[in-house]
Amino acid sequence: MTSLQPPWRALLRIVLGVVLSASPLVASAFRPVAARHAMVVSSEPFASEAGLEILKAGGNAVDAAVAVGFALAVTHPEAGNIGGGGFMLVRLAGGESVVVDYREEAPAAASRDMYLDSEGRVIPGASTEGALAVGVPGTVAGLALAHQKYGKLPWRRVLAPAIRLAAEGFRVSYGLSESLRADAEQLAKFPESRRIFLRDGRPYEPGETFRQPELAKTLRRIARDGPAGFYQGPVARALVETMRKHQGRIELADLRHYQAKVRQPLQGSFRGYAILTVPPPSSGGIGLIEMLNVLELLDLGPPNSYQSIHLVAETMRRAYADRAAYLGDADFASVPVGGLTSKEYAAKLREEILKAKAEVAVQAGHPADFEATQTTHFSVVDADGNAVANTYTLNGSFGSYVTVEGAGFLLNNEMDDFTTKPGEPNMYGLVQSEANAIAPHKRPLSAMTPTIVVQDGKVRLVLGSPGGGTIINTVLQVLLNVLVFKMDIRQAVTAPRFHHQWMPDHLVMERWGFSADTIQKLEEAGYKLEDRDRMGACESIEIDPETGWRFGAADPRAAGKAVGY
Ligand code: GLY
Repeated sequence: MTSLQPPWRALLRIVLGVVLSASPLVASAFRPVAARHAMVVSSEPFASEAGLEILKAGGNAVDAAVAVGFALAVTHPEAGNIGGGGFMLVRLAGGESVVVDYREEAPAAASRDMYLDSEGRVIPGASTEGALAVGVPGTVAGLALAHQKYGKLPWRRVLAPAIRLAAEGFRVSYGLSESLRADAEQLAKFPESRRIFLRDGRPYEPGETFRQPELAKTLRRIARDGPAGFYQGPVARALVETMRKHQGRIELADLRHYQAKVRQPLQGSFRGYAILTVPPPSSGGIGLIEMLNVLELLDLGPPNSYQSIHLVAETMRRAYADRAAYLGDADFASVPVGGLTSKEYAAKLREEILKAKAEVAVQAGHPADFEATQTTHFSVVDADGNAVANTYTLNGSFGSYVTVEGAGFLLNNEMDDFTTKPGEPNMYGLVQSEANAIAPHKRPLSAMTPTIVVQDGKVRLVLGSPGGGTIINTVLQVLLNVLVFKMDIRQAVTAPRFHHQWMPDHLVMERWGFSADTIQKLEEAGYKLEDRDRMGACESIEIDPETGWRFGAADPRAAGKAVGY
């Protein structure tokens, strides 16, 4: 391989700079990764390779997904986890589909007002940092349940790549080194996090090897004992001791109580495609289907034109207002899933939108902190046509920043996804209602939206994204890019994104992604625009309906990888 000399580099930078600033869709010129049989796409290359290893060893898509999930817990500690939770959507080649809900849940000692002071004000940071912010983790139970139902290879075999990565170590990427530095101050507040993730004040440089012997031991225990190796015994006791030390509320009984749940996927339709996605406690599926229903019968014009942005943004505004008003864990609150996802309701919204210009929000906007959006998504398709879309998270980057002492893994801060106080925004600026109030064993409302699109009985798309409140809109836009604008999956994933979530009343646009004329027109129409460097990381797969070839697209916003064979 030839290396570029400095003058060439400088010239290349100038040329790239000119091209990038001139053409919003420039990155769409890159091709997706093509494979004949199977594909894995995740936000971290070692984890994608772990999935491929398992597929080549004879595993199916679920085996590979479980391997990726555990590997990310080692190599992508910002979001990959065994101390958090998420949703896995599985669609088998025969047509059966299922959601494994392994969302975290509130401990028994949680209560509605646990983050309010004696005067009813939200205590800053209480639901986002430290042990009180931690929900009972679901990942190990969820991955084990998926494997038990659908896996082909032995459990120990699918954990092997993660154990190897933790024990032998892996080369720290630029991205991991950067995110460890970005959150160093918060991680340093917890001695075990400081010791493991900041090497006691000598943060890892890119290219250095990061070994995690305590995590390897925990993973070996899980490989040997299954979920009991996490929810009972020494790991569970270490978790509870860490809780007590830092004033958290999770007890051994909460860990024993935790169960991943099998749910029916939500199913919608859009211009002849079947949309499979996740039900509550995620708002993702309801929001996605509600928006697709509205947009189905609208002429969107060219992608990212004023017309399409206006119509899609007005649709987003309404779906997020409904999210704020109605959604929560449907096992605890009454959630009007049928009404919100009906075509009749969509027709009413559509009529309203066609009359509307950019509306002024009903209430004043809240300032939103859009920085901490570290969830992660991966997609897998195997040679038989089984597909998995999995999104899981610690919530914020590195979650609560608390590491379980002696067990080597970080804990989530998912309690912040509950309504800490009705009308008060959470860390994503999302305002929520009583339906999402805290209660013992309840699961906080999520925006995670792992989704599979089926065309003529066969999987066409597998996708999902991180991004907190922006997740649903990222998935929506990638779907529209393929199904309406006929982009290939790489173009669809790369195309610039925008986001509206009702409150705050801002239209957030990826910087440099849109033409100056379009931006001017949006401003003239009354939209309050806000710039963002990037939104989401939609790790996606498209299957060519004619040939069956698998095309993987790792989102260029993250440093992930699509690998197949
Ligand atoms: N914690 C982000 C989400 O579940 O939406």
